Amino acid sequence: MLTSDELLKIVNHYLDSLPYTRKPSTLYEPIKYVLDLGGKRIRPILMMLSYNLYKDNPEAILSSACALETYHNYTLLHDDLMDEAPLRRGQQTVHKKWNDNQAILSGDSMLVLAYERLAKCDSKHLEACLALFTETALQIGEGQQYDMAFENRSDVTVEEYIEMIRLKTSVLLACAMKMGAILADASKEDADNLYKFGEQIGLAFQLQDDYLDVYGDAKVFGKKIGGDITSNKKTYMLITAFNEANEVQRKELETWIGKKDFDTEEKIAAVTKLYNDIGIDRMAKEKMDFYYEQSKKYLDAVAIAEDRKEELKAYAAAMMKRQK
Ligand code: IPE
Ligand code: IPE
Ligand code: MG
Ligand code: MG
Ligand code: MG
Repeated sequence: MLTSDELLKIVNHYLDSLPYTRKPSTLYEPIKYVLDLGGKRIRPILMMLSYNLYKDNPEAILSSACALETYHNYTLLHDDLMDEAPLRRGQQTVHKKWNDNQAILSGDSMLVLAYERLAKCDSKHLEACLALFTETALQIGEGQQYDMAFENRSDVTVEEYIEMIRLKTSVLLACAMKMGAILADASKEDADNLYKFGEQIGLAFQLQDDYLDVYGDAKVFGKKIGGDITSNKKTYMLITAFNEANEVQRKELETWIGKKDFDTEEKIAAVTKLYNDIGIDRMAKEKMDFYYEQSKKYLDAVAIAEDRKEELKAYAAAMMKRQK
């Protein structure tokens, strides 16, 4: 079995070695740029760890594992454009370094490249993998649509938020786990439990992302802190702040959310202070822990020797402590 660090090296080496020889090169430069910026490579690593539960040659699924990473990076190009994000992995986002149209078109091509890379999987499993990936990709678009729509609503519930992040984020982690299992000929029951494990970990993962968007260290996180506050993202933190605020705090929160003209840094500071006063940081951590604990039940239910699960367990635990 390989460690997650070894898998990270293998994934990075594979991504580095992919040739981009088609023309015009200007279409492919932003693709190379974003994939070269690094990133945690969580999706291909989860997929290979899942496969590795059953089989010892995870290199065999590198192309399809990197298809998920390519797809993920495509969503980032479009997500950063939609979220007007200036920074990604500590560097300029593609729409800032180039322009909006470049982020759209290079992103579109990455989606196609993702399918090309996925299609290199074992032909016996191609149909199942394509169906799983296509369903997942549709769900992610649906999640992103809810995420955008929620910016303009003030009555979003915690349940709606959880379903939105399940769609925009969790299903890709769940897909990675299940695809690894499918390619390793795991039982349907195991594949479904691994899917649920990925889904629950994914909810904790997006809660952590939203937490770091407020409380992260910009240099480590690599994204602009406070972006979610600026654009009135209906995160668990904002929804819970409204639910838990006293009368005075609620009024102040409403004022900031309703403002059309504001100083960005002033708004971020004021909303963060309200979060601190209400104790939102602790509540967000508790919610994360809840989903992390849930995820363990599904991994426990996977019918293989416990010692084979150790690497995956350690990786999930480290994910929950991430600062970037
Ligand atoms: C960022 O994903 C988008 C979310 C779903 C939160 P990651 O946090 O996995 O980003 P990279 O790929 O490591 O940069
Ligand atoms: C991203 O959610 C989900 C997808 C990219 C599909 P965010 O908008 O919170 O991700 P970051 O914070 O920009 O990475
Ligand atoms: Mg974003
Ligand atoms: Mg977004
Ligand atoms: Mg975010």
